[in-house]
Amino acid sequence: MKKITIIGTGYVGLVTGAGLADFGNEVICADILESKVNQLKKGEIPFFEPGLKELIDRNVNENRLSFTAEIEKSVQLSEVIFIAVGTPELSSGQADLSHVIKVSKLIGENLNFYKVICTKSTVPIGTGKKICKTINENIKSVVDFDYVSNPEFLREGSSVKDFLWPDRVVIGAEETKAFEILKEVYRPLYVNKTPIMHTNIETSEMIKYASNAFLALKISYINEIANLCDKVGADVHQVATAMGKDGRISSKFLHPGPGYGGSCFPKDTKALVNIAKENGLNFKTIEAAIIANENQKIVMFKKLKKLLQNQISGKSIGILGLSFKPNTDDIRESSSLKMISFLIREGAIVKSYDPVVSNQIKNIYPDLNCCSSLEECVADTDAIVIMTDWNVFRSMDLKKVFKIMKKPVILDTRNILSTHELNNIGFKHDNVGRKSII
Ligand code: UDX
Repeated sequence: MKKITIIGTGYVGLVTGAGLADFGNEVICADILESKVNQLKKGEIPFFEPGLKELIDRNVNENRLSFTAEIEKSVQLSEVIFIAVGTPELSSGQADLSHVIKVSKLIGENLNFYKVICTKSTVPIGTGKKICKTINENIKSVVDFDYVSNPEFLREGSSVKDFLWPDRVVIGAEETKAFEILKEVYRPLYVNKTPIMHTNIETSEMIKYASNAFLALKISYINEIANLCDKVGADVHQVATAMGKDGRISSKFLHPGPGYGGSCFPKDTKALVNIAKENGLNFKTIEAAIIANENQKIVMFKKLKKLLQNQISGKSIGILGLSFKPNTDDIRESSSLKMISFLIREGAIVKSYDPVVSNQIKNIYPDLNCCSSLEECVADTDAIVIMTDWNVFRSMDLKKVFKIMKKPVILDTRNILSTHELNNIGFKHDNVGRKSII
């Protein structure tokens, strides 16, 4: 059991904190935002993440998890410090490291006995060295520390499961002592034979980017295959299923859609291209994946336009789903927002429905009509567009939808509806790469 402080109570920090507490460690989650800390102390979770509240409540009740805005004190108290602050994208496409560096300075100033400093945030390769330099420049007494890179591979919407049952844990550490301490932090995992990989710091930092960019590339690839399936009359799902049976390819992340979004893939792909550039390399595959992803959003809008015979202006359109994927309220880089922008620009009257997103969207589109029910969003529309594969949309009553729409037109950008059923009811519809009669 270790004493741990996690700095940053965003989605990564909070899941990591609660998860490590569940592994038996004594964890303090620290954040400069006092309002957020107070919210957490009251048992309120600042974002939607299935299973997280239960995990937090359980560990708070068992006195293994606490929250504080006193970061200095929390650093002094713990042996292992995790940096889990945001690394947002700068306009240049590079990762903004200002929060990471600020926290490193504070850690240096408060280093009172030997500690392992560990980065969870996704940081460009070479950041570890910058963090160590900053800590060293700010140390006040004669005291030692080791630095470790321990990237997260958490998917929003299933991060609790991903944390408690990971495919692997990567620990980038130069010193065996620091590696052993981190391994101890993950004790229940190595006891259960989860692969724990010991690498150097740069390799660990690279593994995170290489993994995320590869997954983004895979999605862009299947999206382009889907677009081609549309042209040649093939069915992308059968193509993807057959491809996935090949162990060299694997079936995961071969689901076509309106383009990937979220807080990681768009940011990390661009950052990787930049890291390559800084090292004199052109990352052609990832550059292409980024372009293909932007294009996919345009392809979706063109499909809708075609369904509406090029007449968007004045049409009432219902957008089903705002989050970038189901089981999260995160709308960062969501393809849904791009679709709404295209529609507004061309004069459509847009309304939306999402099972969990409501307030955040108002900051971006103050005039958007956010409906409180699926039925309200669908009623009297000229077309509806499924943008997020929430289960509630999979199971919607299509016969009822048919009756209450002004015109029965559906664009299913997530391929969750049965084309057979849509045809039988009489919808005019389209999807991404599945044979369909329009
Ligand atoms: C991702 C990585 O999966 C995770 O390991 C990492 O550490 C953080 O970034 P996340 O962004 O939460 O996780 O979601 P993910 O499930 O990977 O989906 C990302 C985007 O790709 C979503 O927009 C999703 O809809 C899309 N996607 C995913 C597809 O379009 N098709 C797929 O087959 C899979």
